[in-house]
Amino acid sequence: MSHVMNTYARQPVAFVRGEGVWLWDEQGRKYLDALAGIAVNTLGYAHPKLTKALTERIKSGVLHTSNLWRIPDQEAAADRIAEITGLDEVFFCNSGLEANEAAIKIARKYGHDKGIAEPAIIVMEKAFHGRSLATLSATGNRKVQAGFEPLVSGFVRVPLNDLDAVRLVAEHNRNIAAVMIEPIQGEGGINVSRLEYLRDLKALCDKHEWLFISDEIQCGLGRTGKWFVYQHAGFKPDVVPLAKGLASGVPVGACVTGGRANGVFKPGNHGSTFGGNPLAMTAVVATIDIVKEEGLIERAAKTGETIRSEVRKLALPGVTDIRGMGSMIGVELERACGELVLQALQAGLVLNVTADNVVRMLPPLVMSEAEGRQVVERLAPLLKAFLEKRVAA
Ligand SMILES: Cc1ncc(COP(=O)(O)O)c(C=O)c1O
Repeated sequence: MSHVMNTYARQPVAFVRGEGVWLWDEQGRKYLDALAGIAVNTLGYAHPKLTKALTERIKSGVLHTSNLWRIPDQEAAADRIAEITGLDEVFFCNSGLEANEAAIKIARKYGHDKGIAEPAIIVMEKAFHGRSLATLSATGNRKVQAGFEPLVSGFVRVPLNDLDAVRLVAEHNRNIAAVMIEPIQGEGGINVSRLEYLRDLKALCDKHEWLFISDEIQCGLGRTGKWFVYQHAGFKPDVVPLAKGLASGVPVGACVTGGRANGVFKPGNHGSTFGGNPLAMTAVVATIDIVKEEGLIERAAKTGETIRSEVRKLALPGVTDIRGMGSMIGVELERACGELVLQALQAGLVLNVTADNVVRMLPPLVMSEAEGRQVVERLAPLLKAFLEKRVAA
């Protein structure tokens, strides 16, 4: 019996080696990876430049110092993040939920600084923000919350892409300090916000002096054809929580601020022992530099579009929607399809199913269009068999 706590329904496979977009299991079987460890492995596996940077960091002997001292790699990473986000200040932590926790604290502190005693944050239905008490309370999925009540208060929920719902809250609730949104919901089923809606939502935030928090933990970092989804909409949010793909596999989180959110945290307001340590920061700097040098944002946009259009060409009845942006891809089926994950593994393909009936693909940004076509070649017979089974039943 394993002593690992049973918090995940795991598939019976262990990947022990990787190169590019390929993984090998303990038996030496080869898999094409269309998931990147759920949007984490930006550079795929064994990227030589990342390996070199991390090896040098390890050889230096300094994996960790402390935020009590200056950390030059942290300063370099913050400079790069400021450049790609267009924002100003970066707080480093170790995961997505921590980045969101920092964002929620900033929103509350911002509210208090404005004289709101009990600040509240508008959040979206079907959103996922993490599994700490505050972030699961912000999450719009009862399954994540059930059993952990009492929830953290101060979240007001509205449907995605519904500006009137937000306006209505604005009319009746004087405690709002911020809006928190995943501009493309990942766990919720690859639900894409309309760009017009995002712009209008930002205008509403400006009108009421609310913070706009864009949780780009899953959708950010080049995956959609720009560094961040808000850049497609053409504005800058006040707070951008990041994690996942930021260090291509080394655990990291970052809460980035600009505009009204700058300077809200003062010394002593927040902290993290590991946050921004030299090991993680080396990986952040290398990841961002490599994405730029190798044109991976453009590649992710093309490969993702190729995957979507190849799936569309299959014209399968029972596929109810094909959506996403760049290499954030959702194929919605007419019924729950969790069994496809194991079937795909057996066919040498790594993917995921979310929101019960959405096949989710988040390939590494290094995936080529030819490899993207191979993803669909492997997926197509599985989809056909799965959907035909229904017709036969
Ligand atoms: C949009 C979003 N926010 C937050 C999180 C939480 O990140 P972590 O699992 O690193 O705590 C996730 C993880 O899936 C996510 O997709």
